Amino acid sequence: MRIGVLHPGKMGSTVAASFAAAGHEVAWASEDRSDATVARAAGLIDSGSLSALCDSSRLVVSVCPPHAAVAVARAVAATGFDGTYLDANAVAPATVAAVGTVVGDLVDGSIIGPPAREPGTTRMYLSGEGAPDLAEALNGGPLEVRAIEAPVGAASALKMAYAGWTKGSAALLLAIAGYAEAAGVRDALAAEWHESIPGLTDRVERTSRGVGPKAWRFAGEMREIAASLASEGLPDGFHLAAADLYEHLSGFKDAYPGPELDDVLRELLD
Ligand SMILES: NC(=O)c1ccc[n+]([C@@H]2O[C@H](COP(=O)([O-])OP(=O)(O)OC[C@H]3O[C@@H](n4cnc5c(N)ncnc54)[C@H](OP(=O)(O)O)[C@@H]3O)[C@@H](O)[C@H]2O)c1
Repeated sequence: MRIGVLHPGKMGSTVAASFAAAGHEVAWASEDRSDATVARAAGLIDSGSLSALCDSSRLVVSVCPPHAAVAVARAVAATGFDGTYLDANAVAPATVAAVGTVVGDLVDGSIIGPPAREPGTTRMYLSGEGAPDLAEALNGGPLEVRAIEAPVGAASALKMAYAGWTKGSAALLLAIAGYAEAAGVRDALAAEWHESIPGLTDRVERTSRGVGPKAWRFAGEMREIAASLASEGLPDGFHLAAADLYEHLSGFKDAYPGPELDDVLRELLD
């Protein structure tokens, strides 16, 4: 089948390559995209415009920053696209429901793991009516596609729960490191951690390098998680605070190598 991928980011480009390895023709649209996206899309079919991509694709897959998910779906719907739309973004079930009001045939999706370059690292979960058939069609490359027997919203809820812990706890750790620095007890805390919670000092340093370059898009994801918890009557403050913290770090967007802890703390305490 001809599949359109919006857009080939670090994750999206490996999703596209995995679908190509599964035997599909995979296209993208270069219109309005950055040089970095153009470079990552080498090897995919360039349809040029979004409308040409949607006209020629039976399936369109959205893998973009969470804050852009609804706008991307609206742009696809505006082309008159009448195939299947797979929203694979880290968004709340309510956001995917909003996507469902603009695109006709929706499959809900989410991705867990690093960019899918080798088998066994990364899973795409699908839910909704068409999920089992679509999962079967999309498997075959390094990305493992798993259908959950549940309605649209379940694949997104799974991602909210997963990232609520991984990215939520990463934000908490950076906030605590910032507090210890500001209060003048960073070295004393590191010594105490060394004794009672070995490995935490290394973890905060790894966290800084790992999340710094991606913090610009984590803020939106934290808001989606906060909304998900609130919709179930749970406190949303943890993840709203995490969104705040990640927003402070958005200046490290795509930094390579990732920022050292000192740089992150300076930014947080500025
Ligand atoms: N990377 C991971 O480890 C990972 C893990 C699990 C899930 N995911 C999922 O994959 C999504 C994308 O991650 P990624 O690593 O591919 O990010 P990325 O490398 O930053 O790429 C994001 C892509 O989206 C495009 N984009 C940026 N702003 C946009 C906007 N406002 N509207 C439409 N498109 C926009 C970018 O294109 P331009 O630069 O051309 O604008 C780029 O091609 C994440 O938000 C998350 O939901 C990623």
